[in-house]
Order: sequence, then C-alpha cells, then structure tokens
Amino acid sequence: MRTLIKNIKELVGVETLPKLRKQGKEMAQLETVKDAYLLVEDGKIKAFGPMSECNGTADKEVDAAGRLVMPTFCDSHTHIVYANSREHEFVDKIRGLSYEEIAKRGGGILNSAKATAAATEDELYDMAQRRLDDVMRLGTGAIEIKSGYGLSTESELKLLRVIRRLKENSPMTIKSNFLGAHGIPMEYRGHQEDYVDLVINEMIPKVAAEGLADFIDVFCDQGFFTVEDTARILEAGIKYGMKPKIHANEMAVSGGVQVGVKYGAISVDHLEQMGDAEIECLKGTETMPTILPGCAFFLNLPLSPAHKMIEAGLPVAMASDYNPGTSPSGNMQLILSMACIRYRLTPEEAFNATTLNTAYAMGVSREVGSIAVGKKANFYISKPIPSYEYMPYAYGENKVERIFLNGIEI
Ligand code: NIG
Ligand code: FE
Repeated sequence: MRTLIKNIKELVGVETLPKLRKQGKEMAQLETVKDAYLLVEDGKIKAFGPMSECNGTADKEVDAAGRLVMPTFCDSHTHIVYANSREHEFVDKIRGLSYEEIAKRGGGILNSAKATAAATEDELYDMAQRRLDDVMRLGTGAIEIKSGYGLSTESELKLLRVIRRLKENSPMTIKSNFLGAHGIPMEYRGHQEDYVDLVINEMIPKVAAEGLADFIDVFCDQGFFTVEDTARILEAGIKYGMKPKIHANEMAVSGGVQVGVKYGAISVDHLEQMGDAEIECLKGTETMPTILPGCAFFLNLPLSPAHKMIEAGLPVAMASDYNPGTSPSGNMQLILSMACIRYRLTPEEAFNATTLNTAYAMGVSREVGSIAVGKKANFYISKPIPSYEYMPYAYGENKVERIFLNGIEI
C-alpha cells in the first residue's frame, strides 16, 4: 500500500542523515522542504522531496495544498492512567496552599491513588483510552505512560496492565514506565524504607514477571524519595531489564540528576531546580534532560534554565507530564508554544524538543520523531497556516487537521 501526500506547502522536520537526538547548537537546525511530496509505503516513510522530483504512482493520493506536514509529537512523560481529576486541590493552591503542603496532608498523589485503587481495570482503561484519543487528535503519535497511582502491588499491576492494553489497541507508539515509587503511602510515613523494600522485593519482580514495564521511575525529591531510596530502586529495576528514567529536581536541588546520570537514566525529568553542578553532570552523558512546561505553568514553579542547558551543549526535550495533579493537559501543541513563549526557545529548538528529543527520551528515536526514510509514517497535516512559526505562535488553537500513524489516517 502506497500513499502519496502531494503539494505540501512545507514539509517540516526532515532528516537525510537521521540523528538520535539534537544537542546544543544542533537544536536550532530544522530542515524543511518547500512545495514537497511525501511517499509512504507499508506504514513507513519511503521517500520525500520537492514536488518537481515526485514521480511514480500510489494507491492513494492526498492533496496538502496550503498546508504543512510535520512529524507527530512524541510525549515522553505522562501519567494518564488515573481515576479522578483534582480541581479542589487546584482551588486550594489558588488560595495559598503549596503542592508539598497538600501532599503532606495526604492529598495530591495519595488522593489519586485512593480513587484509582477503587476503580476497576476496565474503568481505568476506558478513561485512559479517552485521554489517549484526545491527545492523538491534537497531534501526538508516541507516548510514554507511567503507573504510580497504585502504590500497592495489586494496584500498580492493575495500572500497568491497563497500559499494556493501550499498547495492544492503539496505533500510537507506547512505552510503559513502572513508577511504584511515586508517593509514600500514609501507613509508611516515618519508615519509608519499608515501602522502598516493598517496591524492590515484591513489586519489581512481579512487574518484570509479566513483562509490564520498559522503564523504571522514582520521584526523587524533597518530601518524597531520597537519593539513597532512588539508587536502590533503580539498581533493582536495572537487574530486571528496566531502563531508568526519573523525576528529579522539581521541589529542590535534590541530587536526583546526579543519581539518574549515575545509573544511566535515559532521561531526567522536571529540572525546575538546576544548579551549575547539575548541568555539568549531564555533559557528555546519554541522559536526556527533559523539561515539563505544563507542570511549571500549572504550579507556578520557577522555569528550568533551558537556554543555559542548550548553551552548555546539552540536548533538551519537552514533554507534557499529563497528570491530574500538576499538569491536567496533554496538549503538545501548547507545550510547543510554552517552549517558545516561556522558555524563549526558537520555534526550531521547540520543534526538536517536542519531537526528536522526546522520541530519544522514550527510546524510540530510531523509529519516530522526524521525517526520515525508513521511519514510521507518523505525521500530521496542518490546517491551512502561513508558516511553521505559526504553530507555537497561535497558542491555544488546534492547528492539526489530519493525522496519519503508521501511514494510516486515524
Ligand atoms: O510529574 N512530580 C511527581 N509526579 C507528577 C505529579 C503527580 C500528581 O500530583 O498527581 C509530576 O508532576
Ligand atoms: Fe511526572
């Protein structure tokens, strides 16, 4: 089956020599082809180039006149399997409570864990599936999904089984992440090492036995898990073949970046609190620093020093952190806008941060994240828009008209 997208006003994010990620100055490079075609064969990108070089036939032709074609977004950090929204805490925060104060009272993650434990696997699946469908319609083609609203062996397994079903049934590229160490259940307060033992001795082996997780995650931060807890959990996960990918430096300069790098984390995420030592420690590593603009926006947190990291030669990725407590939106078009408006990334840097670099941060940048021959044909056709800069500029507006995943329109 061959599909030809023709008369594309501008084909954005093409790579002739595909990179696994872009770092430092490379982040400013975004190759495009004006008046272009894109040929898809059997779900993969077969060829692309200027219309003047378009020859051959296809089973299906799509005219993209006046429209841009771009690789779908990759969202490398989400928590979309949960039962309840948390708008009351949102109001508490407006009235002056901090995220940490709410968590200390047993709200926050524990609030969601309670509601999520009470929901059946089918109910959770239906809710998560709807969220997945919504973000797909907004242009996301690959997504990483974490557990972490279970916090008991049984509930964590239930969440991960939901993610497995999503993987089986969705055309999106999905990776699963075991985040048993997301919050400290009330009954373990004061002796959290016992909860860490439970994660290590019971949860990880069971999760691994069912092959439920690609990654292992820990919320390593002030008021949550310590650097020592994190090291123990990551070591245990690695033994079972799970790759580390952690939450670090949201509340404080927590040592999270260093422990993540030490254990070869594929990404360290959040990074609102970054000193020079953290930037230094990321240099020359395989770890992708990942910023979560929706969380900083929603909680009014300080902004990660994105520019400083890029100037230091690092790569930067930006993901949604879609979750009920700190970022109740998975709209990657909005993240693209925030990248430019709040972090002063150029549109080119922002595109790379939300496509190729997030693909790297979930271990799939050989398959997705750019328009390159042999990669999955995951792209969207925009509405008629003047330029790719319009994408981040017109924040809040849905600029995506048609979406193709694995070469098939969804
Ligand atoms: O990435 N920071 C930790 N975990 C989530 C929030 C979870 C919640 O509040 O429900 C995050 O922001
Ligand atoms: Fe998160």
